[in-house]
Amino acid sequence: MKQILIISASPRGKDSASRSVADTLAGRLEDLYPSAKFVRHDLAVELLPHIDEITLRAISTHDPAEAQRLKKAAGQSDGLTDELLESDLLVIATPMWNFGIPSALKAWIDLVVRPGRTFRYSDGGVLGLAKDKKAILVLASGGVFTEGPWRPWDFVEPYLRQILSFIGIVDVQTIRVEGMNIPLLSADAVPRANQAIAKLAL
Ligand SMILES: Cc1cc2nc3c(=O)[nH]c(=O)nc-3n(C[C@H](O)[C@H](O)[C@H](O)COP(=O)(O)O)c2cc1C
Repeated sequence: MKQILIISASPRGKDSASRSVADTLAGRLEDLYPSAKFVRHDLAVELLPHIDEITLRAISTHDPAEAQRLKKAAGQSDGLTDELLESDLLVIATPMWNFGIPSALKAWIDLVVRPGRTFRYSDGGVLGLAKDKKAILVLASGGVFTEGPWRPWDFVEPYLRQILSFIGIVDVQTIRVEGMNIPLLSADAVPRANQAIAKLAL
């Protein structure tokens, strides 16, 4: 394991359940892979931009001269994409917000899911180019979505699994920190999720 990329998206600092569990996971990974490089992005602090016209043109042009001219505008996306491609393991720690992911995380996804870099179209359909990587999702939610009536309302795990598989990352494990807004469940949610780390294939 040469590089581990940890993306967190909650702005709740020390109160964040997803961050707390991701920190425990990172500690475990540091023990297991002492020589790995850990790259971290706190997307709640380091707010990434929405893609504007010039950036879109810069990251999607097929014209080498235009690409060269717009190199600067593609810089942030290039850097984040390189970082992802150089990583062996991606950890995404995120809250559920309004049944989906926070827009801060979506902004990162929009900058790294790139034709010609992390996926390409082929005769056989779409080819993911982010090969030989694993991902671990640490997902915190106020309610419970792994079972029961709210299950179909979960647009976090299905979306993240789908978009990761689109770019070639299919080895995906999930840790849930569920029921954070349910008094009977919230006290145990983080300790239970920390215990679940032991069951991951790391
Ligand atoms: C803006 C906002 C939207 C939220 N939307 C949902 C939701 O749709 N479903 C849910 O179960 N919990 C929702 N919650 C609760 C959070 O998912 C829960 O507090 C979780 O612990 C947040 O993760 P964090 O502790 O890592 O910040 C929402 C919280 C906020 C602040």
